[in-house]
Amino acid sequence: MMTLSTPTVQVVAPETFGATAAEHIAATLRVKPDAVLGLPTGNTPVPVYAALLARRDVNFSRARVAMLDEYLGAGDRPISFYQWLRSHFLAAAAIAPERILRMPSDPEGIVAACAAYDRQLEQWGGCDLQLLGLGLNGHIGFNEPSSPGDSATRVVPLSASTRDANEEYWQGEEVPEFGVTTGIGVILRAKRIILLVNGARKAATLRQALDGPIGPDCPASFLRRHRDVLVLADRAAAGQE
Ligand code: PGA
Repeated sequence: MMTLSTPTVQVVAPETFGATAAEHIAATLRVKPDAVLGLPTGNTPVPVYAALLARRDVNFSRARVAMLDEYLGAGDRPISFYQWLRSHFLAAAAIAPERILRMPSDPEGIVAACAAYDRQLEQWGGCDLQLLGLGLNGHIGFNEPSSPGDSATRVVPLSASTRDANEEYWQGEEVPEFGVTTGIGVILRAKRIILLVNGARKAATLRQALDGPIGPDCPASFLRRHRDVLVLADRAAAGQE
């Protein structure tokens, strides 16, 4: 931490994006079968989980999973990120409940539950590999602009841009006003981080994260304080087409 290294950027063709990320995850589990994987939801990781599950040579039997974020009040509803992650990865990989660190979402007792999340993650030894998507506004998890670089896991108000981006996902229901997210300080304690970025519409945000000032205006810029970050970008996100 605090080494201000330049993240490695790996640029791939869009059709190999998922498989490339899957290979990084598979390599982590080969070295450490009980690795803790910090896993995001969203459109970006869809091909990653699909490619990972398609490989059939990856042993998930001891893998542990820490959820990156959740909507406040989502509970077990189909729209929750927990159910999303179950249907895209956890169920098919047969990750047992005791090996899943869920992001709390019950508004009652949420402050204590967030602290308990951070404690449990620490007891597990932290994330061996934290995967992240990149929000159009530079957010990582639900750490919206203005999030401090040392933040703990907590409830956050969602920005207008994030709520707009998630409108389609909520299919006509009102998008919640609050999310619960792994803090940036917690993300930065992961041993390795992979930021997944695809599509031309993320290109300017990625440029800002990599070349702009490090600070809360672009939360992803804080990743430059970590010594082992890989940015996996397709050509469009890397500004190469
Ligand atoms: P997306 O979301 O993968 O659906 O683009 C990324 C994010 O907002 O973190």
